[in-house]
Amino acid sequence: MITLRNLDQLLKKNLKDKVALVRVDLNIPIKDNIILDDTRIERIAPTIHELTKNGCKVCLISHFGRPDGKNNEKFSLKQVIPSLKRHLKKDIIFSKNLYGETVETALSKSTENSVILFENTRFDDGEEKNSDVLAEKISKVADFYINDAFSVSHRSHVSTTGLSSYLPSYSGRYLDQEILMINKALNIGDGKTLGIIGGSKISTKLKVLENLTEKLDVLFIGGGMANTFLLAQGYKIGKSLCEKSMTDTALNIMEAAKSKNCKLILPCDALVAKDMEKGTSFSEVMIDQIPGDSLILDIGPKTIKIIGECLAEVNTAIWCGPLGLFELNPFQTGTASVAKEISNLTKKNSLTSIAGGGDTVAALSQSNYNKDFTYISTAGGAFLELLAGESLPGIEVLK
Ligand code: 3PG
Ligand code: MG
Repeated sequence: MITLRNLDQLLKKNLKDKVALVRVDLNIPIKDNIILDDTRIERIAPTIHELTKNGCKVCLISHFGRPDGKNNEKFSLKQVIPSLKRHLKKDIIFSKNLYGETVETALSKSTENSVILFENTRFDDGEEKNSDVLAEKISKVADFYINDAFSVSHRSHVSTTGLSSYLPSYSGRYLDQEILMINKALNIGDGKTLGIIGGSKISTKLKVLENLTEKLDVLFIGGGMANTFLLAQGYKIGKSLCEKSMTDTALNIMEAAKSKNCKLILPCDALVAKDMEKGTSFSEVMIDQIPGDSLILDIGPKTIKIIGECLAEVNTAIWCGPLGLFELNPFQTGTASVAKEISNLTKKNSLTSIAGGGDTVAALSQSNYNKDFTYISTAGGAFLELLAGESLPGIEVLK
């Protein structure tokens, strides 16, 4: 079990008027200005309350989306302020910069009933480069750094690792909980494990996918990612989302799975439509019958049945990434049906189930079959990396 420097150690100190930089993950799913799920915000409340109760001034730092080092209003963290206010029951003082005068002014206004929110760290191109210069500038105003964002701890950025070179660093309550619960769930049963991996890109999950084949008995690949595998196998996938340049990689992963005795399963049927507009008409087709003018938007009923049969044979199910375009009716059907089956088996104690990922959490809560899972993590990539036995840079610096 990993031991980290945590809040218990920090709270032994006198924190009155000390400034804590708290790395949280406010990268929540938002579509057409509507927040689809704010579990990531709900779960950071305990850390923030403990700090403010002990007299600390709290500055929240986070990224949102991938603005590539440039200012872009579409990715502004201003859009999460109402949700932060609601969950933290505090006023939010917004600082459009990460350092300098705006931060000083914000701090001078801060009270026990408020927290400061910095603008998206990824508006500064130093963030993802883990620039020392940026880390030093941000750290200037603060006394401590706290990481309460397990879900982004697989990145080595200023806000996840860089700041810890300049400030005493601790884990937050939610980060501790994530690691504890994921490890606990993974250690419950021996037996067979099924991995269900969805979402859109292989390129971001590549290394993990290869490593996972070693840990899993069965790997089902769905969502947009499956399209690249299908294309690699010579299927026609019409206008479906895919990463053409990754087809060789897909074949390598299939090869790796074979050699490690991990059964890899792809969808055998799908729901397709000509566009992604609301109310679009759709049809159910076998995977070798995808029309040239259509997109694959969900797994079909035969695939759902196959996943059900796999679930009946394993002891643990690990799930990351939605299986279809769940935001658009009826393409939530695959994800919701699998969630229902997993919930039922978990309730009957015949399955240990862990799911993770920002979109996965949103899709599961939309389906209403999220109550009976053994544990649902808000981390996607970080969760998979922990699972695959990789070391996470944001965690390493807290050891
Ligand atoms: C996530 O949503 O998975 C985390 O916030 C990390 O985001 P990233 O993949 O853009 O680094
Ligand atoms: Mg993500």
